[in-house]
Amino acid sequence: MTNPYLTLPIVRLGIIGGGQLGRMMAKAAKRLGCTCVVLDPTPGSPAGQVAGHQIVGHYHDPARLRELVESCDVTTFDIEDIDTETLLQLEREGHPIHPSPQVLALIQDKLTQKQTLANAGIPTAPFVAMPEPSVEAFADFGYPLVQKARRGGYDGRGVAILHCAEAYSQHLPVPSLVERFVPAEKELAVLVARGRDGDSRSYPVVEMCFRSGENVLDMLLAPAQIPADVAVAAQQLAVRTLDVLGGVGIFGVEMFLLADGSLLVNEVAPRTHNSGHHTIEANVTDQFEQHLRAVVGLPLGSTAQLSPAAMINLLGAPGHRGRPVIKGMAEALAISGVCLHLYGKAATAPFRKMGHVTVLDSDLSTARRKAEQVRDLIEISGEDHP
Ligand SMILES: Nc1ncnc2c1ncn2[C@@H]1O[C@H](COP(=O)(O)OP(=O)(O)OP(=O)(O)O)[C@@H](O)[C@H]1O
Ligand SMILES: [Mg+2]
Repeated sequence: MTNPYLTLPIVRLGIIGGGQLGRMMAKAAKRLGCTCVVLDPTPGSPAGQVAGHQIVGHYHDPARLRELVESCDVTTFDIEDIDTETLLQLEREGHPIHPSPQVLALIQDKLTQKQTLANAGIPTAPFVAMPEPSVEAFADFGYPLVQKARRGGYDGRGVAILHCAEAYSQHLPVPSLVERFVPAEKELAVLVARGRDGDSRSYPVVEMCFRSGENVLDMLLAPAQIPADVAVAAQQLAVRTLDVLGGVGIFGVEMFLLADGSLLVNEVAPRTHNSGHHTIEANVTDQFEQHLRAVVGLPLGSTAQLSPAAMINLLGAPGHRGRPVIKGMAEALAISGVCLHLYGKAATAPFRKMGHVTVLDSDLSTARRKAEQVRDLIEISGEDHP
């Protein structure tokens, strides 16, 4: 954007996917004078509520995708499971879509993603393609292993961690890749923004803590508690990874830190990421505004962190469905440094992401302790009891 005069709306932004990521993006977009249209199958989706304009339709419906893209100046997405054939066609017709549908298609398939990274010399866990999982093929590869569905997985659905042959019954009967189980010391993530001009900026490295047996992020610590040289190496690796993949926007690069200090890239998300929610309060430019700046062609903002932060997801309580009932909200908000986000989802479900809490504190361990306190205080149950 070189024209010093910009007319409101700055752009009409199309967002494919109406979840929490789209909701937070729509907020950032409105702040910068943009209007938004959301495509999502559920009327009144979290992002649709904020955007004010939603096309009700599926991400694999060519007609609805076309309607969205043609009614906007720039289109982006908050999910990965989208019909890329239609997006590629719309891009060929001259509609700006970022990140590009080619990059999305490459990343959507965990196998082509891994192959592209490994071929470019990005360190990843050793893997093989597994078009038809079988007892013999798993045994040949050897345990412990991690099986990943090529397509459609998220929040750990589509990932099976099998420690021994006896666990084979828990495998996924779908075309997959199988990779070596990595005994990671820590899981790290680096958000990288790439502008339309190729400028790229990384955010400070964060640490993702998972509860064993669960794949949804349990606690995020920013910055990661790692030596400075490891942090620099992680940021460099993330930028290199993005140089291999290309594309414009925010990308989340998930990594494993091994005991010897080396790093392996786990996977890349071509969108804003759960590991960057704290940037809303803790960094100069949050990941949603940064993504918007990138896809619109505005200069990227500072990624500097202003305060240590701990972040937890607020998940729907097990055994509960229906209209959300939130317990402990006032008590949580009484704790200083607590920033609460509720996503406006009409119904809760077990382990569904219903919101998140970021705690800011000049001392990271205090932030963590407060976040744990909030996790104990807030419970999201549902009106439909079993
Ligand atoms: N090779 C591996 N070795 C050990 N653990 C692994 C390996 N691959 C994945 N995991 C574990 O499984 C989790 C989910 O895997 P992955 O990130 O590939 O799947 P996902 O469904 O795309 O996850 P999400 O959507 O939550 O990012 C990882 O965060 C990590 O805890
Ligand atoms: Mg992941």
